[in-house]
Amino acid sequence: MRRIEYKTDRQLAEMARAGVITSRALDAAVAAALPGVTTAELDRVFRKVLAEHGAGSNFLGYYDYPATICTSVNDQVVHGIPGDRVLAEGDIISIDGGATVQDDRGTTWHGDSARTVLVGKTVSDARRELSEITRAALWQGIAAAARAKKVGEIGFAIENFVRQETGDKYGIIEDFVGHGIGTSMHMAPDVLNYAARDLGPRLKKGMALAIEPMLVTGGIETVTLEDDWTIKTLDGGDACQWEHSVAIHSDGIWVLTAEDGGASELSKLGLTVKPIPA
Ligand code: MF3
Ligand code: CO
Ligand code: CO
Repeated sequence: MRRIEYKTDRQLAEMARAGVITSRALDAAVAAALPGVTTAELDRVFRKVLAEHGAGSNFLGYYDYPATICTSVNDQVVHGIPGDRVLAEGDIISIDGGATVQDDRGTTWHGDSARTVLVGKTVSDARRELSEITRAALWQGIAAAARAKKVGEIGFAIENFVRQETGDKYGIIEDFVGHGIGTSMHMAPDVLNYAARDLGPRLKKGMALAIEPMLVTGGIETVTLEDDWTIKTLDGGDACQWEHSVAIHSDGIWVLTAEDGGASELSKLGLTVKPIPA
């Protein structure tokens, strides 16, 4: 399906329900990501919060994916499968997950969000900076979704920010991109997390987009592990990802996977957000 799915405000409000549950489940998984804990345990924690809210998982069973989250540790970029790996003091892990809810017509709406966690108390300054720059770059991309005309300007905002703050210190992954989201997790259009000539379609009311920059400390080449899912950097450099699902509604943008719609972070960038009109 290459057509963009434009949502009504009512439909975006349903997506916000999926988004808030995604955020709460991530809160729990993030809090559980401590030294000595397995990545499988984080999946159990995330799964439990979905169940408590009566929500479904869009990850579980997606092309036979076996878990409700992806847990990508250190040189793993994305799609790490939770298992018996034990988190160690000093690890950097991204946790990516999503919830689904149904509206009263039986239509399923998706959330998708990722956060990076610094495990324990002695994480290196290098890993701290990697996560902080990636997180800030995501918010620059989100702010661009509010101000820009075309989808591709999101990637420009992300890349310009990273280059302005840190020069060529970090690579921005190009093998995986953000996406439209709605009645499926992955929909048109592609949302590049880097600057590219083709600015893509116009940003329009009714769009919902997952923005998900991945930064690495070395080269941007990636390889897939034997499990056919886990993506790691070819050179073994550290990787990091932050992601939010963002709606463009009648009255501006709303970050669907943040409980406050992104208000607190976006206010630092000079933007005010208004709730999706009821
Ligand atoms: N949520 C990921 C993304 O940000 C995709 C996960 S695929 C899955 O687009 F199979 F692991 F669910
Ligand atoms: Co995701
Ligand atoms: Co995504």
